[in-house]
Amino acid sequence: MQTRVRVGIVGANGYSGLELARLLLAHPGADLTYVAASKDAAGALEDEQPFLRGTNNLQVTAYHPDACADACDFVFVALPSGSSGAIALDLRERGLRAIDLSGDLRLPAGEYERWYGRAALPEAGLDEAVYGLTEWRRSEIAQANLIANPGCYATAAELALLPLTASHGDILLPSAPVIIDAKSGVSGAGRKATQSGLLGELAENFYAYKVGRHQHTPEIERQLSGTGDIRVLLNTQLLPTVRGIYISAYVQTRDGVSTAELSSLYQFYYDREPFIRVLPAGRVPELKHVRGSNYCDIGFAVDERTGVVQVFSVIDNLQKGAAGQAVQNFNVMNGFAETDGLLAQPLYP
Ligand SMILES: NC(=O)c1ccc[n+]([C@@H]2O[C@H](COP(=O)([O-])OP(=O)(O)OC[C@H]3O[C@@H](n4cnc5c(N)ncnc54)[C@H](OP(=O)(O)O)[C@@H]3O)[C@@H](O)[C@H]2O)c1
Repeated sequence: MQTRVRVGIVGANGYSGLELARLLLAHPGADLTYVAASKDAAGALEDEQPFLRGTNNLQVTAYHPDACADACDFVFVALPSGSSGAIALDLRERGLRAIDLSGDLRLPAGEYERWYGRAALPEAGLDEAVYGLTEWRRSEIAQANLIANPGCYATAAELALLPLTASHGDILLPSAPVIIDAKSGVSGAGRKATQSGLLGELAENFYAYKVGRHQHTPEIERQLSGTGDIRVLLNTQLLPTVRGIYISAYVQTRDGVSTAELSSLYQFYYDREPFIRVLPAGRVPELKHVRGSNYCDIGFAVDERTGVVQVFSVIDNLQKGAAGQAVQNFNVMNGFAETDGLLAQPLYP
């Protein structure tokens, strides 16, 4: 019988950390034994986060590595990039297994420094971290002790496009850039207070941000490229919603690709995947159909006039884009059923 695992969350007062707490408190194989936030945090988790009232007796404490290593065997680190990866690596050295939700361990040093604008972590740590896109890296994840959980935009884009890329098929023309029009709800920016997050700024508003410089661009390029050289133009925009990522990707394909061909390709890769729902031809996904769940819904259309294939995908950024995928990876790493703790259906309406 599978033994239970003592788990901790560092960054438990942030949006991703809270979603992790919600999932792990209901997980059949996890005992949540440690929750930590920044230095001035202290108090009962249910007082700090009343939506979890009655589910636990945990105290949120200021993060301390010795306390974390004593209390748990497995840790989810959900801090801002620049703090998160170093803590995950330190806990690995102390013998814990770890999943880092930040961008700190996802890229080679040179690319990280260019896109994140700060020094990269040591190569040994970067080398040890396995990229945690569960559906495409399952066997590596099962052997891993350290996971770099993918970015939210990156998850939705890669799940939508990997069946088309050169290393897995011959449909996409690598000479043309893949254009990814991406939109996120405001929880994607985290819980810290900012002027751009005010209701008065968000409501009835819509705009692009980080034009040409979003840090998920190289992450997506690396995963899509395989042995090839695929260029991605990622345009990120802020939706006036709380949760959700919507990707519309435009891909130049070789002549004559048909809807039937695409249908069988996507079915081939995703038919048996519990969290990927490929929609029938002619249907497009909607944010509300995945909200609060670990699903990724994917639809596509062939524009015969231009030869462009449009691929659409949606996820909940805090679930499949962060905490849900992290728990999916935790399940794979520990030999649990991959769906354990993750079968809540979407909230609707
Ligand atoms: N939000 C998303 O949709 C999403 C999706 C995928 C990946 N991610 C990644 O997940 C990570 C967390 O994102 P988030 O959106 O959940 O952020 P967030 O809501 O801003 O929360 C960040 C958390 O980190 C804590 N913290 C910051 N510095 C710390 C330190 N030095 N020591 C201990 N705790 C510290 C904060 O504690 P206090 O509140 O006590 O200050 C807070 O609990 C980021 O790396 C982000 O890129 C987020």
